Amino acid sequence: MKKPISIKSPATIVIALCLAYFLATFSCSKVQHFELSRFVGPDTCGGCHGEIYEQWKNSMHNLAHVDGLYRAAAFHYLQGLTNADELAEAESCVKCHTPVGFFSGFPRKVSQERDNPEKIPEIGKRGIQCDFCHSVTGAYAIYNCQFKLDPGHGEANPGTKRGPFKDSESDFHKSEFSEFHTSSEMCGVCHDVRHTVFGTKLENTYGEWSKGPYNSTDPAKRVTCQGCHMYHRPGVPATGSTPRPKNPGAAADGGPRREHIYTHYFVGGNRTLPSMHGDTVKSKMAEERLKHAAELVIDGSKLREGKIVVTVKNTGAGHYLPTGLTDVRQMWLEVVVKDPSGKTLLSSGVADRQGYLPAGSIVFNTVFGDGKGNRVDNIAKAREVLRDRRVPPLGSLEEIYTLPGRASASVTVKARLLYMSASQELVDKLLGTGKLRLPVTVMAEAGKKITL
Ligand code: HEC
Ligand code: HEC
Ligand code: HEC
Ligand code: HEC
Ligand code: HEC
Repeated sequence: MKKPISIKSPATIVIALCLAYFLATFSCSKVQHFELSRFVGPDTCGGCHGEIYEQWKNSMHNLAHVDGLYRAAAFHYLQGLTNADELAEAESCVKCHTPVGFFSGFPRKVSQERDNPEKIPEIGKRGIQCDFCHSVTGAYAIYNCQFKLDPGHGEANPGTKRGPFKDSESDFHKSEFSEFHTSSEMCGVCHDVRHTVFGTKLENTYGEWSKGPYNSTDPAKRVTCQGCHMYHRPGVPATGSTPRPKNPGAAADGGPRREHIYTHYFVGGNRTLPSMHGDTVKSKMAEERLKHAAELVIDGSKLREGKIVVTVKNTGAGHYLPTGLTDVRQMWLEVVVKDPSGKTLLSSGVADRQGYLPAGSIVFNTVFGDGKGNRVDNIAKAREVLRDRRVPPLGSLEEIYTLPGRASASVTVKARLLYMSASQELVDKLLGTGKLRLPVTVMAEAGKKITL
């Protein structure tokens, strides 16, 4: 027989208290607030961590908030929205793009920074910075910037900075070993973006990594985000297909010599943004990185049937190729097939003078939908993933090209895998035609003469 649960029973009280505690903690995680004065600016950290500061300066993390493409996209997405769920998403960008601003109270929403730019604190404009990452103690969930934070109390009492060392000492701050900082989850809290209401996976880099071969239990095969990206330095792309040698040195001016210092360039595929801020080192590094991510293989064995098969292999990235903002990034195959007289038999993915791709080009990307099968370009409206065709880590994708007309006895095939941070159409739409021409990076190329 069931006993009726009395409101006064100790079990109910315990459950009620647990629930209250859980709700308080959970809702705190959503509306955490830390006084701005608690954060120490990056220039202060740079005073002792000079080398790390120079690496981080003009990185995508440093520029996350002033990034013109981000700002244009954020303000553009907000236009004309009336649905509350869509608005909630469009307002949410600031938590990752200016985390110090967000957690200290301004801007909490995109519209606030659009309408009152003068109120954005200077430190908020410095993007994803030293004292934000090194005040992290863990996370409530590994997506949408749900960090647990414990910043200090300004320069007079900067509190504890967490990092990879167990024996680190500084006169300025307390130091503490943090396993979290050595894990991919530290990156995943931001590099996994879900629609705040619909839950649609908008960016899934961490998820891709965690389900992929680099998240291996075998220490010889396991590579974290840091294992590639924080080994990267000029001349050392440190990808899955290149060596990732240690970077010996000191973490602070006058600090002890250590066998590896994690680098802070945070370079992915973006060449444009750092170079717009005068940093050619990072744009060169991005190019080097992209050139060590993939391989192309041309298979001519089906020429008799009039078919050419081009395989794209992801040899270097720890996640899908491309990853992150895959509705915006443009990674595509350019394939040109000619007969012995030089006549073009097939041409696919050849951009026009404006930099626009012809219809039917093979682009590896994600397309979002409105829940009824119609394409949407505004992520605030993304209720579903309509299409996701990208190359998995250490995996490959095949594209079959069919030659028109009768098969030629001999052909030459040229294939290139090309990358742009965004399609030129989108850049022209957001910034105005002729304002910015994005560079095209050749990630891989292959050529073959095939004779029957
Ligand atoms: C007065 C100099 C000084 C300043 C200013 C300073 N640090 Fe340090 N920091 C050090 C020294 C010295 C070490 C020890 C280096 C070592 O152990 O190799 C250190 C170590 C660290 C570590 C490693 C901790 C660990 O246990 O792994 C982190 C992270 C760190 N600092 C972050 C910061 C941040 C963030 C700031 C700015 C808020 C900052 N530091 C400002 C001198 C300084
Ligand atoms: C996006 C987050 C992030 C930002 C921004 C960041 N760091 Fe780090 N930092 C890390 C992580 C993660 C590690 C440890 C990596 C590991 O152990 O795998 C680290 C390591 C360190 C260390 C230990 C030495 C080393 O490099 O291995 C110091 C010191 C440090 N950071 C200082 C700084 C300073 C100073 C800045 C600003 C100029 C900064 N960090 C910006 C995430 C960040
Ligand atoms: C607070 C949120 C946050 C954290 C934590 C974070 N990132 Fe980022 N990261 C971003 C944002 C936002 C951008 C894009 C900035 C922009 O728009 O310019 C970015 C950009 C990057 C890029 C450059 C991408 C490109 O297109 O070139 C790389 C690489 C990167 N992050 C790696 C990491 C790694 C590795 C870690 C963990 C050590 C990490 N991030 C932690 C938010 C974060
Ligand atoms: C095995 C090495 C490796 C590992 C592990 C790895 N990456 Fe990458 N990453 C790459 C390479 C190579 C590229 C350049 C190709 C590209 O843009 O996808 C890249 C690109 C990126 C970009 C830019 C993507 C774009 O085109 O806009 C981001 C952001 C990024 N990585 C974040 C991460 C995060 C976060 C993790 C961990 C969850 C991680 N990476 C793990 C090798 C790696
Ligand atoms: C949970 C964290 C998070 C949120 C929220 C977020 N972003 Fe980002 N954003 C990122 C990360 C991580 C990257 C880097 C990914 C990459 O390079 O592929 C990024 C990159 C971008 C870029 C590319 C910048 C460049 O120069 O290449 C744009 C544009 C952007 N975000 C716009 C937005 C807009 C608009 C919103 C709000 C609707 C938003 N983001 C919300 C984490 C976030």
